[in-house]
Amino acid sequence: MATLNQIRTHFLDYFQSQDHAIVASAPLVPQNDPTLLFVNAGMVPFKNYFTGAETAPWPRAASSQKSVRAGGKHNDLDNVGYTARHHTFFEMLGNFSFGDYFKDQAITLAWALLTKEFQIDPARLTVTVYHTDDEAHGLWKKIAGLPDSRIIRIATNDNFWSMGDTGPCGPCSEIFYDHGAHIAGGPPGSPDEDGDRFVEIWNLVFMQFEQFADGRREPLPKPSIDTGMGLERIAAVLQGVHDNYDVDLFRALIAASRGLVGGAGGSSNGPSHRVIADHLRSTSFLIADGVTPSNEGRGYVLRRIMRRAMRHAHLLGAEEPLMHRLAPTLIAQMGEAYPELKRAEPAIVDTLRQEEERFRRTLGRGMSLLDEATAGLNEGDVLSGETAFKLYDTYGFPLDLTQDAVRAKGLTVNLEEFDAAMTRQREMAREAWTGSGQVSAAGVWFGIRERLGPTAFTGYEDGEMTAELLVLVEDGREIDGALTGATVQALFDRTPFYAESGGQAGDRGEAEWPMADGKTGRARVTDVQKLAGDLHVHDLEIVEGALTPGTRVRLAVDAERRAATRSNHSATHLLHAALRNVLGTHVTQKGQMVDGERIRFDFSHGAPVTPDEIDRIEAEVNAVVRQNLPAETQLMAPKQAMAAGAMALFGEKYGETVRVLTLGRGLGGPDGEDRGAYSVELCGGTHVARTGDIALFKVVQEQGVAAGVRRIEALTGEAARRYLLDQAGVAKALADQFKVPVGEVTARVEALEAQRRRLEKELGDAKRQLAMGGGGGAAPAGPEEIGGVRVMARILEGVGGKDLRPIAEEFKKQLPDGIIALVGTADGKAAMTVAVTGAAQARFNAADLAKAGVLAMGGQGAGGRPDFAQGGAPDATRAAEGLAAVKALLAG
Ligand code: ALA
Repeated sequence: MATLNQIRTHFLDYFQSQDHAIVASAPLVPQNDPTLLFVNAGMVPFKNYFTGAETAPWPRAASSQKSVRAGGKHNDLDNVGYTARHHTFFEMLGNFSFGDYFKDQAITLAWALLTKEFQIDPARLTVTVYHTDDEAHGLWKKIAGLPDSRIIRIATNDNFWSMGDTGPCGPCSEIFYDHGAHIAGGPPGSPDEDGDRFVEIWNLVFMQFEQFADGRREPLPKPSIDTGMGLERIAAVLQGVHDNYDVDLFRALIAASRGLVGGAGGSSNGPSHRVIADHLRSTSFLIADGVTPSNEGRGYVLRRIMRRAMRHAHLLGAEEPLMHRLAPTLIAQMGEAYPELKRAEPAIVDTLRQEEERFRRTLGRGMSLLDEATAGLNEGDVLSGETAFKLYDTYGFPLDLTQDAVRAKGLTVNLEEFDAAMTRQREMAREAWTGSGQVSAAGVWFGIRERLGPTAFTGYEDGEMTAELLVLVEDGREIDGALTGATVQALFDRTPFYAESGGQAGDRGEAEWPMADGKTGRARVTDVQKLAGDLHVHDLEIVEGALTPGTRVRLAVDAERRAATRSNHSATHLLHAALRNVLGTHVTQKGQMVDGERIRFDFSHGAPVTPDEIDRIEAEVNAVVRQNLPAETQLMAPKQAMAAGAMALFGEKYGETVRVLTLGRGLGGPDGEDRGAYSVELCGGTHVARTGDIALFKVVQEQGVAAGVRRIEALTGEAARRYLLDQAGVAKALADQFKVPVGEVTARVEALEAQRRRLEKELGDAKRQLAMGGGGGAAPAGPEEIGGVRVMARILEGVGGKDLRPIAEEFKKQLPDGIIALVGTADGKAAMTVAVTGAAQARFNAADLAKAGVLAMGGQGAGGRPDFAQGGAPDATRAAEGLAAVKALLAG
């Protein structure tokens, strides 16, 4: 029996033998497509090849593409666990023709693969075509010899495929496998088509149109082919099982899940183990592609999937966090085909563990609340949206988790109520992820890229050169010229300006050009962005003169800022290596920004970095700086680079060749043994010539930015020197103020602190003595008699609440049978203490008396025991009222 891994390989090998380029799966986070949440089909990475915005490097290709359908147009989250073949994560096998072959060849290739290579009995196959597509109908008849009864015309959108609300689309033809009469269901288009007997295994899309946001649908430049076959479905067919969750991969995951949950762990056919197995895949792959759980956008989709699985683990009775312990099984199964999983293993395990530990704190309480809320409800009833919102807001239950939880009881959630309560939060979340604002701008630049090709970047060697201005763009449209004061985007045939990418800011600088009147035109380059993949687009502010395409322009990068940026970027690589050496190899980069001022580096790590660790990190980086070895850059193929041990970033898509930067030598131990290069990373940024150019490295801040993600900010060179100088300046100013050497400032501050504490205590003692009548003041009045009991009532000015108790204790010695009622006033507030001693305790309760006093002073109440109670009030001027209230109560 062929395993899932073997079937994937068989598919790709077949299309390779049919002259298709085999393309590695793109990351799940779409590159260059702000309209899409996740890659949800095999064609997504090739979208621009279909629309003609970019030219495909190969006429035909095939891939096994990681896909997530959870959120957006294609969303299967709610069904996972309850059906035989819904997944949030799946692999889409596909072959693609970019204006090369069309329907005829697509059908020929598909039929041959299924019936010859995979040896599926043709009698089990049925196909559909779009109702108007006579051509496809005829081809199926001719190529596959299928009778009319098994070429079914479908008039609905099921046979018109589109990627999303916009993008390439076209009629499609689906191939169905008949699992046999023992399973309920009818052929596609029949009334019981929703049954499980006939399962769609492959979709051939005849890409012919592009759908625009304004409703227009226009023909593509060249008809193309996009196909998609769910690997899990075809594996079920080839392994002779009906349920995707019975294929070898899922059996292994479910067995691991059952093993960890233990004997009581529910049936493997129930939804819980399926949900866990499916969600383990989507969460691990998303984390490997750089998504981290958060409360908005992609991060929230990830969190929803994770928590949904975690509730099912809880339901199965898993005592300990479960998901992170399953990750190694998944990686053993899929890490060969997707090496990014292996590379990200520590990040996957850490993120899953931390999220589950965090969620477990509220999961149990949320489930109790939900049980209470649903206790009186019966099948078909509706749970209030307010409860669902409370679960969301207070207990971290995503809505779909609550819906999933009440589903077992046949309940639904009142979505209107929930939505009303949610509107505000949802709008915030939506703002955070829809549209990066580049949608329309990207359009014009893709066209320009197609016309003019990539920008030649000369900035690794030069900081200054003359280039030809090719295009000016204003507000997303090409223009013929720009005048003084204009802010425009400019594209040159070549440029020394680095465009923002890989976490390095774009260069700034100046542009100058000769004008017809002999004067010089000048502009400031304020930023440079990388658009349409490899265009360096300069933001220009024209300071003087007119500028038109065709002009030869002198471009000069701000050399000082560039040098500082270089130093910061190289130091960031050293920081990354040092973090892994000091904290562990689970540290992976989550984001970075370096510019001419500073370094900001985000990385996965579960706890704050201690001062001692920071010290060791700084010491390592500075030691490599002092090695002053040349930085080495090599160009190589990505595979070769990774084999050489280069660190690749999660979720990055690399081109045909990559730059590999090597910095420093590994720091040898006492034996001085050579430990190879200190840092090797793939990087297209600009870097120092020698590590010594960094001069000095200093961490200035460390903080948490998201669950399991820390941020370090650091400085190099002159900025680091200035920072240390400022710190030293503060120390010097303190030393001058205290008139001691800098080295003694700490001891001096400690001594002052001790002195302050001593004086505070002495002051408290003095106040107490004064209150007790000692210390030479006028002797205070003795106890008075109220309602037959002896009462010592006093207002003590300047005595705070915490000083009242020892004073009351002193008075108790003087009054063994009676009431002590004290009001202290300090900092504008009042505090009351009441003590009842001896036989008086039979008649009076201190807590009642104190409460009456505090209420009379405008406070909330008092607490304590029957013989001793205290309380506070906000207004010192009402002290007398408090005491009067106590006396009134005593008088009866
Ligand atoms: N893009 C097509 C699909 O996802 C093949 O079904």
